[in-house]
Amino acid sequence: ATKTIGIIVGSLRKGSFSKKIAKFLIDNAPADYTLERIEIGDLALYNQDYDEGESPSSYAPFREKIKSLDGVIFITPEYNRSVPGVLKNAIDVGSRPYGQNAWEGKPTLVISSSISNLSGFGANHHLRQSLVFLDMPTLQQPEVYLANVQNLFDDNDYLTNEDTANFLREVLDSYAKFVEQYFKNSFIPPE
Ligand code: FNR
Repeated sequence: ATKTIGIIVGSLRKGSFSKKIAKFLIDNAPADYTLERIEIGDLALYNQDYDEGESPSSYAPFREKIKSLDGVIFITPEYNRSVPGVLKNAIDVGSRPYGQNAWEGKPTLVISSSISNLSGFGANHHLRQSLVFLDMPTLQQPEVYLANVQNLFDDNDYLTNEDTANFLREVLDSYAKFVEQYFKNSFIPPE
């Protein structure tokens, strides 16, 4: 059956390079996979009081959407050597109320990027720290650090750097295998 993977982009900016990477992945989805962007910009800042009372109307559909996914791909820039607050907010919203972590068990891919040659390493690994706690099995290799992203695209937002395009296709292939393996291992045959 077709698997649905959600792509969460850690940038709200219209011209975001992370969004362009997301578009490339969607256009190059492996066979039997649907990749779709999930918006996080409309999620109000998380406040723990919401867990006991009424929560913002954007929370419930977001949590349901995450729960329905077969996997998650994070594409994040680095802000001040960490993940952008908007991404951390989405992670926090999805993780609560306590005991109802929507992220749990979703096979995950992490992609970081940067307009410098440091390629978002700090954001990549800060994100991984949260994924451990959220119990998201995460592809370890290949790691995906994209440097100097401003040079990878043409005026139509198309990824024209062939090396990066080939690398990202390989990454998607590895991730799809990882997802298949994960579901195979977690299948409990009926008695
Ligand atoms: C940045 N940028 C940045 N880059 C980096 O490599 N390490 C960093 O720590 C930071 N810090 C940082 C903080 C803030 C507040 C901004 C706005 C930017 C630059 C960043 O890589 C660049 O803006 C990217 O283009 C952001 O990704 P999108 O929006 O293109 O997806």
